[in-house]
Amino acid sequence: MKEILTKQFNVFVGADSLTQLSELLIEKSYTKVFVLVDNHTKKHCLPLLKPFLAQFYLIEIKAGEIHKNIQTAQFIWQQLQDNNADRTSLLINLGGGVICDMGGFAAATFKRGIDFIHIPTSLLAMVDASIGGKLGIDFNGIKNEIGLFKHPHLIAVDAVFLKTLPNVELMSGFAELVKHGLVANKKMWHELQTLENVTPESIQKYIYQSIKIKVKIVRKDPTEKGIRKALNFGHTIGHAIESASILKSNKPILHGHAIALGMIVESWLSCQLNYLAPKDCIQIENYIRKHFDIPGFDFDINDLIQLMGHDKKNENGKIQFSLIHKIGSPKLKINCEQELIQQALITCLQLK
Ligand SMILES: NC(=O)c1ccc[n+]([C@@H]2O[C@H](COP(=O)([O-])OP(=O)(O)OC[C@H]3O[C@@H](n4cnc5c(N)ncnc54)[C@H](O)[C@@H]3O)[C@@H](O)[C@H]2O)c1
Ligand SMILES: [Zn+2]
Repeated sequence: MKEILTKQFNVFVGADSLTQLSELLIEKSYTKVFVLVDNHTKKHCLPLLKPFLAQFYLIEIKAGEIHKNIQTAQFIWQQLQDNNADRTSLLINLGGGVICDMGGFAAATFKRGIDFIHIPTSLLAMVDASIGGKLGIDFNGIKNEIGLFKHPHLIAVDAVFLKTLPNVELMSGFAELVKHGLVANKKMWHELQTLENVTPESIQKYIYQSIKIKVKIVRKDPTEKGIRKALNFGHTIGHAIESASILKSNKPILHGHAIALGMIVESWLSCQLNYLAPKDCIQIENYIRKHFDIPGFDFDINDLIQLMGHDKKNENGKIQFSLIHKIGSPKLKINCEQELIQQALITCLQLK
């Protein structure tokens, strides 16, 4: 097991990281322990957690982003209240990013805040959503509209959970892991080149490296005023693709897959603006195309650009990007002209 200890939060990564949970439970003597799951993590992950817990109350919600809303948060608060949770109770979030974001939000607001722990079970939650203290729910169709920053008491990351994660979800998390290399660690990016297949086993050592990168960035800039914006690489284009796909399809593209495409387009932009060398840009595109199934699209370029107009990062109405300046170092707050964005979408995604 490896540990990343900071003043605000501790992350334990590895096969015996769940033993940290047992130790915390003894040390803290919580009055009650609640475990939040969705219907998938109840089936696949709860059996692996049970040996580390004595008595607990289970709170189960339905899986999926559409349930990351105020009604589900209310249901969690209700369950806590009905079962007499008090200020010294604990909520354990056992699941992907939806469970971590929403369970953390419910715990941080219940009785002005009870302790909570993240046990991420999707790759995306392991390397991204469980780290950094962003908690929240979607509201009126806008993602993460209501929320707050608060770190969990403990984050225990055990790759054993990935064995039951559907491959398409594994790849969604893999995009964020790749992103961490591209924005902050050239060495990891080069090591990733040697990976033939992405499997729970083959990526284990990169999970720790990826978490370390995110922790380092979050510690420098907890509330995303500066360097944390680097983590938005691929996300200006990626979010627009994700939103367009949600509007168009009843089986929309997953977040990480949209970000993978976003990274191709935003690498091209980084190259056009002379930050990134053409050979590195080609290497990134080839790598992403090798590992991700890229579907054909019929998105309208103007619709995508309009969607980018809603991005939280924009300032004074200008579409803003977090690009890369060489592999492993970010280039923040870059405004791009609409014509250049159009050109990027035509060139990289063959959109019309
Ligand atoms: N807080 C942050 O900093 C941050 C960062 C990135 C993403 N997020 C949020 O994270 C969410 C996406 O996270 P996600 O991709 O983990 O989504 P998710 O929580 O919906 O999980 C994806 C799917 O995998 C299932 N699942 C999870 N673990 C499993 C396992 N071990 N075995 C079988 N099935 C399993 C879930 O039930 C779900 O169906 C979004 O809501 C996003 O906004 C937050
Ligand atoms: Zn993301």
